[in-house]
Amino acid sequence: MKNLLLLMGAFIMWGSAYSQTPVYKNKTAAVEDRVEDLLERMTLTEKIYQMNQWAYGQNTNENNFEDKVRDLKPEIGSLIYRSQSPVFRNQIQKKAMEESRLGIPIIMGFDVIHGFRTIFPIPLAQSCSWNKELVKEACSIAAREAKLSGIDWTFSPMIDVARDARWGRVSEAYGEDPYTNAVFCVEAVHGYQGENLSDRYSIAACLKHYIGYSLSQGGRDYQYSDVSGQTLWETFMPPYEAGVKAGAATLMSGFNDISGVPASANHYTLTEVLKEKWGHDGFVVSDWGSVQQLMNQGVAKDMKECAELSLMAGVEMDMVDNAYLDHLQALVDEGTVPMATIDEAVRRILRIKFRLGLFDNPYCEELPESKRYLQPEDRKVAAELSAESMVLLKNASLPGQENTVLPLSASVKNIALIGPMVVDSFHIIGFWEGYGDSKDAESILEGFKKEFAGKAQLNYAKGCDFDGNNEEGFAEALAMAEKSDVVVLCLGEQRNWSGENGSRSTLALPAIQEKLVDEIKKSGKPLVLVLSSGRPLELVRIEPLADAMLEIWQPGTDGGSATAGIISGRINPSGKLSITFPLTTGQIPMYYNMRRSSRPWGKQGLYKDISSEPLYWFGHGLSYTNYSYGNVKLSATQIKMNEKIIAEVEVSNDGQMDGKETVLWYINDPVASISRPMKEVKFFEKQEIKAGQKVVYRFEIVPERDLSFVDSKGDRHLEAGEFNVLMGNQKVKFELVE
Ligand code: NOJ
Repeated sequence: MKNLLLLMGAFIMWGSAYSQTPVYKNKTAAVEDRVEDLLERMTLTEKIYQMNQWAYGQNTNENNFEDKVRDLKPEIGSLIYRSQSPVFRNQIQKKAMEESRLGIPIIMGFDVIHGFRTIFPIPLAQSCSWNKELVKEACSIAAREAKLSGIDWTFSPMIDVARDARWGRVSEAYGEDPYTNAVFCVEAVHGYQGENLSDRYSIAACLKHYIGYSLSQGGRDYQYSDVSGQTLWETFMPPYEAGVKAGAATLMSGFNDISGVPASANHYTLTEVLKEKWGHDGFVVSDWGSVQQLMNQGVAKDMKECAELSLMAGVEMDMVDNAYLDHLQALVDEGTVPMATIDEAVRRILRIKFRLGLFDNPYCEELPESKRYLQPEDRKVAAELSAESMVLLKNASLPGQENTVLPLSASVKNIALIGPMVVDSFHIIGFWEGYGDSKDAESILEGFKKEFAGKAQLNYAKGCDFDGNNEEGFAEALAMAEKSDVVVLCLGEQRNWSGENGSRSTLALPAIQEKLVDEIKKSGKPLVLVLSSGRPLELVRIEPLADAMLEIWQPGTDGGSATAGIISGRINPSGKLSITFPLTTGQIPMYYNMRRSSRPWGKQGLYKDISSEPLYWFGHGLSYTNYSYGNVKLSATQIKMNEKIIAEVEVSNDGQMDGKETVLWYINDPVASISRPMKEVKFFEKQEIKAGQKVVYRFEIVPERDLSFVDSKGDRHLEAGEFNVLMGNQKVKFELVE
């Protein structure tokens, strides 16, 4: 009897424990406990499903040929969600939550690169604004629009420091400098992920393409990249390290082969550095096809080996290749891949799903488009960021006149607007346009119409196409120029000339556009060039013909009004280049933080046929006002390694217009055990300075952070000796002692 009672008691207890909510479904349990509980309940098949990413919806990227997923299984781990319907997302998610055995939500990702529907300037342009707050705000607007459309995860920011602008993806990162990429990376991560990944409008960020992809040989996409240990650590790692420290949930492994070990099979970068040295606890997704491409890269004989190499190196999720899906079971069965490796990969993926709050709030809000997109206050941010990204490259005075050509004077009553960019609202939004729609975008013509209404007559002629050799429009364009007071000639690149698979052998505009400049010059009218591109351009032949030049990049939905606002003088330009404009393509690589030449005197090592200087260095950018700089003052001439030193400079706005000025602070270490670049940006700050006012800029130099350097293994060194702080053309010395 006693035994029977005991048995019954045990049965009742077991029953009630069984009916209790499992730990992984308990909202109040710790994330790690929920992950472990769920992991224990999963079969190997269920785990493998979490490690594969499918793609659904319309393919907007011609470089990614997808297998359309017709019947999505409820067990799938992740989806590239190419739809903007929250309702549809919720239907898919419902299937996962209700029809899969364990109810694991799907994480839905998408390329939200510079906006979702409100499109901001391309990232290269954003960095030319040097405005950290605006960049962060743009990312959080993008996150909100995406989240309300069913997206949990963006494949952004791209932080591949790029110094060869033939490579089209130069448009997607923040220029040629590691520090600048690191700073904007952190802003982007904070903008997307918010305070907390589970916040209402947060989405997960993805640092890409880890790592060294921008060294693709000859600027040709998808090529081998030969990266020395020194360059890897000094140039490419800093933005990734900063992004990981800022809490980026995920990373994407690159397409590229890094010195013989492809990025998607690289145990050193993916595991030893990322997970072991930096302690990243989120997950790595491969790039589209980068697992199966290990065969093309000559390190795997078949898909099975691709799966093994990628997973064992540290890629937890396979983007659309199905290599994991098809081969992990066999690899585990035969003992090639340990179960512990699978568990660790799934643990990382689930952790991010829990942190995103997907288990507790799997569905997204279902609002009408009018509430989700293009809110007036968001477009205001887009317009501001577009304007602050634009760089006034040149602004000359006309012979015999004191004033510069820009801003256009009030006496200008007839403006010729010429060129293939004038009525465009497609290319202006740039590559990776998300769900950007050209019908929302303002063309330059529309921007000018609003800006100059009642003030000046606009005379439009296309002149020529972006490319080709049809000169039939030249005569009409010249006639328009002749009857106008000034010509604004809008040239540039089509949007798919940069971005993925957008390599070009030259940075020059096509010959037809250069010819149009020659033709219009015949009018003798002041000539303003407005240039839209996804990369720095080779302007050597057309710059001498232009009186003023404004680089507008691919400025997004509100780029038209920003352009017109700068030309009219309503907006004072404040952008500065985050990438050098070489004089000719043959100068590549040409970037500000190069090493010194071993013969830095006379004409040693210089080109015999052209100048060895670029046309515009990194940091170049003009304003309509005049800033004068005081002397840089240092708080000490000597400091110890645990002390700080403060550099300050007073900047006055001596002109007539309010403006925003960015001060870039550089450090130079003239003698070190490993040679250092001629100068390196260590801090920048943008401040508003009203006309007639002064502002002090301050750079706090922390030796361990700002004066140390890495070696080819990533170990940091701080060496005593002389250093220089550089700012503008000033150079001030100080000493670091033991
Ligand atoms: C390939 C691109 O390299 C990558 O940047 C992008 O995120 C994926 N395709 C997904 O579209």
